Amino acid sequence: MEFDEQKLRAYYANPPEDISLESIDLGRIPRHVTLIMDGNGRWAQAQGRPRHEGHIAGVDALREAVTTSVRLGIDVLSAYAFSTENWKRPQEEVNLLMHLFATTLLKELPLFFQENVRLRFLGDINSLPENTREVFEEGLAKTASHTGMEFALAVNYGSRAELVRAARLVAKDVAAGSLALDEVDESAIAERLYTHGLPDPELLIRTSGELRLSNYLLWQLAYTEFYVVNKHWPDFSRWDMLRAICAYQRRDRRFGGVSAS
Ligand code: FPP
Repeated sequence: MEFDEQKLRAYYANPPEDISLESIDLGRIPRHVTLIMDGNGRWAQAQGRPRHEGHIAGVDALREAVTTSVRLGIDVLSAYAFSTENWKRPQEEVNLLMHLFATTLLKELPLFFQENVRLRFLGDINSLPENTREVFEEGLAKTASHTGMEFALAVNYGSRAELVRAARLVAKDVAAGSLALDEVDESAIAERLYTHGLPDPELLIRTSGELRLSNYLLWQLAYTEFYVVNKHWPDFSRWDMLRAICAYQRRDRRFGGVSAS
């Protein structure tokens, strides 16, 4: 996607010692970057503060990640905000997160307008609390005509549930006669995932040092490069995004083939 180089340079002024805009090739920015925002609770607990303060601080880091991605000309930024397994958390934390999603979305709508960002959700948002669902639907409607970066937030998302849903949709179409059995191929599945129409992520960033996928985008991450950073999500900054892209650009992506070099 196009980016405003002047804005980008101003945004990345005063770099730390180890990284700067010059460290990356601006002509090879990944199209789709996806985030597993882990460690909000531990970030708060490490400071003797309640877990929910970590989620609140996490919102600031996510806002910065959205702005950073727009500045860099990334086409799609996606982020794992709430999994189908997160309902097992204490009710109070679940309530707070649902409330935070709704209030944050309303508060951040002007940013989506200013930056021409289109919103999208991955996951089953129909079974969210009514107020959260209504705000999400409002966000979708209000940003539907935006033509800039797509921001896809995974809420009530689980990859296995997504694949089961896709299998059911395929079976339904086959049973109805609108899809022939020999038309059931990779694209028939991909078109029935929440991510339909989006390119697969080239880069997955996970904070907090954990080396697992946590039921996230199992299909879509087949050839994605992983970058794991040893800091908690609220501490993730625009410079960490550059470090991640720099690491990505040094990878030799073979997609099961042999190296071009
Ligand atoms: C992981 O930290 C984070 C979450 C489960 C929630 C993600 C939410 C945010 C980043 C803030 C709000 C986002 C939006 C879209 C408004 P954790 O609680 O699993 O941390 P822990 O592993 O240290 O317990």
